[in-house]
Amino acid sequence: MKMLNDKWLAALVAAGCIAAVAAATYGCGTGSGAMLPILCWGVVLAAGLFWGLTTRRVWRRLSERQRYRFLFWSYAVPFFAAMPTVELLFAETLPQFDRLGLKLATAAATGLTIALIYDFIHKNRQNMRKKIVAGNWKMNTLPAEGVELAKGVAAGRSEVCACVNFIVCPPFTHLAMVAEALKGSDIALGAQNCAAEAKGAYTGEVAAQMIAALGCKYVILGHSERRQYYGETSETLNKKMAQAYANGLTPIYCVGENLAEREAGKHFDVVKAQIEEVVYNLTEEQFADLVIAYEPVWAIGTGKTATAEQAQEIHAYIRKVLADKFGAAADACPILYGGSCKPSNAAEIFAKEDVDGGLIGGAALKAEDFLAIGKGFAK
Ligand code: 13P
Repeated sequence: MKMLNDKWLAALVAAGCIAAVAAATYGCGTGSGAMLPILCWGVVLAAGLFWGLTTRRVWRRLSERQRYRFLFWSYAVPFFAAMPTVELLFAETLPQFDRLGLKLATAAATGLTIALIYDFIHKNRQNMRKKIVAGNWKMNTLPAEGVELAKGVAAGRSEVCACVNFIVCPPFTHLAMVAEALKGSDIALGAQNCAAEAKGAYTGEVAAQMIAALGCKYVILGHSERRQYYGETSETLNKKMAQAYANGLTPIYCVGENLAEREAGKHFDVVKAQIEEVVYNLTEEQFADLVIAYEPVWAIGTGKTATAEQAQEIHAYIRKVLADKFGAAADACPILYGGSCKPSNAAEIFAKEDVDGGLIGGAALKAEDFLAIGKGFAK
């Protein structure tokens, strides 16, 4: 289904506003002569809100909670403020508006109605984002074992909701064989890295062009293990991203803080910098074809998982940082969680609004577990 864009959302909320104002007016027993100006007032409010919702600066910078408040007050207050004008004009026909309590209740009902309409639309919107469960096999399995693993995933795939997009990322050496094993299934293939250069005298490197030729659709870039053990910097990653896009690969760009950074409360700044230094250099078209994976280093392979609340908090923050640059397109960008994700905790984490799936390490090495993680979505 096509993504509900901001203009549609705004139009729906605005229409809801007019309906709410009309209903509130009707509920107060006003005569038909008063309906027209009140409806006009509703249209003005609706237009103002449409502007607010489609203007990046106003809407994009608000958190979800602030958005509800914004909607509530931006309807309730002007509605209440409009009452004296309406009363002045229609003193005869509006006897019931004399009562303060009634006015307040009407204004509050209007604000609440709008906030609820937004809530309803917003929940449906979130479901439209791509759900992804990606397996990062790291430096594990021999080729034959990798083929078995891929076959196992393909065989059990039908037990999981078709709405989940599975990706497996084996070592380079297995790609061709795993591609063969996955033929006929809807499981996508990804690589764990690619070279920063297109081709040439770079001993030991594997070009994006090569992995694309083997059938890869995705490539993991900026994994913390590559940043930490192989000194990958934002500068290198910018080049790798360019290579990925030039060869039709979708990057799964990893961000995340280490334990010391988390303990020092610097995690927001760390992920922000990792995004600004690389993702901000993408074109809008490239950004539309990007997956982000948030992987706190302290949770990778340690058995320590971020709580669902911690994940949601930083995923929402990442989306806000993305929105600051790319606006509404940030709503469509899948943000995966990675770090000791397993069948027992996936459902709780995936249930969070801004978590669109997982990048799985250890648990991706067992077809059963990997598929069970995918079931975390099928609620
Ligand atoms: P674990 O799931 O083993 O913690 O690894 C996460 C990861 O690094 C995926 O890229």
